[in-house]
Amino acid sequence: MKMSTEEAIMRWNKAADSFISNYDENGGVNRKVLLNPAIFELLGEVSGKVLLDAGCGEGYLSRILAQQGASITAVDYSERMLELAKERTTDNSIKYEFGNIENMHFLPSQSFDKIVSNMVIQDLEKYELAIKEMYRLLKRDGTFVFSILHPCFITPNSGWIKDTKGQKLYWKVDRYFYEGVYDQNFPANSDEKVVYYHRTLMSYMKTFRNAGFTLNDIIEPKASSEDLLLYPKFKEDLNCPNFIVFQLSKKG
Ligand SMILES: C[S@@+](CC[C@H](N)C(=O)[O-])C[C@H]1O[C@@H](n2cnc3c(N)ncnc32)[C@H](O)[C@@H]1O
Repeated sequence: MKMSTEEAIMRWNKAADSFISNYDENGGVNRKVLLNPAIFELLGEVSGKVLLDAGCGEGYLSRILAQQGASITAVDYSERMLELAKERTTDNSIKYEFGNIENMHFLPSQSFDKIVSNMVIQDLEKYELAIKEMYRLLKRDGTFVFSILHPCFITPNSGWIKDTKGQKLYWKVDRYFYEGVYDQNFPANSDEKVVYYHRTLMSYMKTFRNAGFTLNDIIEPKASSEDLLLYPKFKEDLNCPNFIVFQLSKKG
């Protein structure tokens, strides 16, 4: 299967409305319980900082960070996502830009203190270019935080193995060393396809190093005990993490 960035974005334009249908001000329950706490911890203090939200989607994270006092530029390559983001942003606190995060020539070098990219890097055909762009755009000592599907567990053909009654037994991982595109129905019960690219952890690490980044930290999010009481569905995710969040830095 081959898939260009433009084709992938056409799919995002089509899928945008259904993708965000259960978004609230926290981006929905997966983001609220798993991704947001990890991202906030790794981003650190944002008040008074200049931030880029690369692949902002409908902009929930940009709005939270703007409320925390950051100055935000938010970029996305889907016109429909940007329309939705602008509709949902009631003030002028966020500067939205249309563009491919693999090449943000419209933004000057060394202009951001921090960059965040939430569940976008796995959508990119040429993610190495995007990682280099983040390095170019960060000021010295800047931080880049990004989340992706955990490549050790969410692989092409991964999924639950169920018993004859349909009860989930265990999570199957397959084709870890495959690197490239695969598609997945989204929402799971629809015919709409969203495209992802799988890469090994080794490849990610090499790409960070080649761009000049230092890897500082990772978080493999899991629900807190308080959240497990409120949202018991996250118990099944205690077997293995769905997501990984990286913190990279551009050393001076
Ligand atoms: C899974 S959504 C995440 C959106 C948002 N960060 C969030 O967490 O709600 C992925 C987003 O990345 C955008 N995207 C995919 N490829 C892109 C690219 N090459 N450049 C910019 N945005 C891209 C899509 O349009 C979509 O809005």
